[in-house]
Amino acid sequence: MKIFLDTANIEDIKKANSWGIIDGVTTNPSLIAKEGKDFKEVVEEICSIVDGPISAEVISEDAEGMIKEARELVKIHKNIVIKIPMTSEGIKAVKTLTAEDIKTNVTLIFSANQALLAAKAGASYVSPFVGRLDDQGEDGMQLIEEIMQIFSMYDVATEVIVASIRSPLHAKLSAMLGADISTIPMSVLQKMFNHTQTDLGIKKFLADWEKVPKK
Ligand code: E4P
Repeated sequence: MKIFLDTANIEDIKKANSWGIIDGVTTNPSLIAKEGKDFKEVVEEICSIVDGPISAEVISEDAEGMIKEARELVKIHKNIVIKIPMTSEGIKAVKTLTAEDIKTNVTLIFSANQALLAAKAGASYVSPFVGRLDDQGEDGMQLIEEIMQIFSMYDVATEVIVASIRSPLHAKLSAMLGADISTIPMSVLQKMFNHTQTDLGIKKFLADWEKVPKK
């Protein structure tokens, strides 16, 4: 499973990228707003750090506006993927952008039917939001299972990005379901490294090492 970092924070992106396990980055308007910097500048900087797909979201609500924004955003870098909300206008824009070889990531997916429609329009990626479904008492991972089943039956080329990840368990279950990508916030990624037995094990090895006679 590929791992994308779900943030627009440059320091976090640099840090996670230095670990050598980051395949791409996803942003959204909320994540960009948190950084308090110019959108284009942030996206440019992310592209200069991570060599992989970088999702940048449009804010227009009509297809024409989305297409116009997308054509400008792809000029920033060859790795830009245009994030488009799951609406009928969004799907219309995806169809046009796909014909222009512009990569798209259809976001705010909350049902298997939405994922199916996005795939039919030629989306490069779909982003089902598991955490937000869990938040309202539904089972986010069940949605991933459904989408993976449908996409594998019909040999769909669209890749599934599990989004709105809240815990290491979400990441593990995504991998177990064969999701193509998980986009993970820095706080969750850091937790994925940890196990109390690893910490205890290192402590014990180092303590025992002190007992080794040194010449
Ligand atoms: C990424 O593509 C999504 O925008 C992001 O994962 C949403 O996460 P949230 O539900 O924690 O805001």
